[in-house]
Amino acid sequence: MNINTKLLHGYPVIDSETGASSIPKYQTSTFHQKDVFNHTGYSYSRFANPTVDAAEKCIAALENAKYGLAFSSGMAAINSVLFLLSNGDHLVLGKNIYGGTYQTVTDFLSRFGVECTFVDESNVGEWEEAVQDNTKMFYLESPSNPLLTITDLEAVANIAKQHGILTACDNTFMTPLAQHPLELGIDIAIHSATKFINGHSDVVAGLLATNNEEIYPQLKTHQKALGGTLGTEDAWLLLRGVKTMGLRMEKSVSNALQLAEFLESKVQVKTVYYPGLASHTNHDVHMKQASDGGAVLSFELENTDQVKALFDNCQVPIVAVSLGGVESILSYPWMMSHACMPEEERLKMGVTPTLLRFSCGIEDCDDLIADLDKCIN
Ligand SMILES: Cc1ncc(COP(=O)(O)O)c(C=O)c1O
Repeated sequence: MNINTKLLHGYPVIDSETGASSIPKYQTSTFHQKDVFNHTGYSYSRFANPTVDAAEKCIAALENAKYGLAFSSGMAAINSVLFLLSNGDHLVLGKNIYGGTYQTVTDFLSRFGVECTFVDESNVGEWEEAVQDNTKMFYLESPSNPLLTITDLEAVANIAKQHGILTACDNTFMTPLAQHPLELGIDIAIHSATKFINGHSDVVAGLLATNNEEIYPQLKTHQKALGGTLGTEDAWLLLRGVKTMGLRMEKSVSNALQLAEFLESKVQVKTVYYPGLASHTNHDVHMKQASDGGAVLSFELENTDQVKALFDNCQVPIVAVSLGGVESILSYPWMMSHACMPEEERLKMGVTPTLLRFSCGIEDCDDLIADLDKCIN
């Protein structure tokens, strides 16, 4: 099945009880058991719910995986993965990771006796060099947030396999339409479905997909026991949003490429980070493992006066935290997504006070370009 057909027919989209063409919101916390010794598979909505089940089967289908799991946020999904680590284990991760993930790793994992090493994620050799006897997991994110750095997923997964190390990859920026980490040898694909999968800036959700028979039951237990289960209403909205993801992504990605080319041509813009541009340091690696450059780019201005003028004057994108909506979103990582990192760490990774992130929506590209052209001087 091709992807646009799969988005509409490749997982449960029809209610098996009634034939309803949209899986209903099974808005219930509990389920009556006609036979107290056997339930229908559903007993309590923190454990399983038919609407949430459909969302889980959806992510499994899109990532070509056996198993899917849905969570109340991307962070709940990420933390359920990081909970696979125990006291004495060692975790290796890229230094350019989402601020919330960085916070979990530095504030919590260290308290639980998990040792962490940050590497330059684009340098495959650094992953190999970081391996210790107690290394249990490689945690990857490609492209990274917000600098769009690229990790060679297959090469790093191969190193992990040689050492019996588990791999998890945050695939939020590429979506399951443009990049399939599991097919590149990664064990767990992670999504903040708050972003492109839902696509309408009205849901907070997280998804996991895996083929790993041993890991799946552990992740399922974490979902149940840590309690970050996705709510029914949000699962329903997510299922509604995902149906148009193919068309949405086509337009957003095309807007991103045009906008990146425009920004690159503008003298007032110091640097443009977009893996779909031939000028991106790891363009070749990215295009080997993904089918497009994605819908997010970031760029560096010369000074903070320009940054202020841009935020004060832009009229098309909303100015907000988050990304992946049908509307374009202009963000300020320095004070938004990465504000929870110490200033020194932000600067070290290149998150400066003059860095902007732009998540392309589905507007007419001419309007996006005209708006930015007018505001960046
Ligand atoms: C790459 C990435 N991963 C994970 C998250 C966390 O997702 P959520 O906000 O749904 O918890 C975000 C949020 O911005 C993100 O950008």
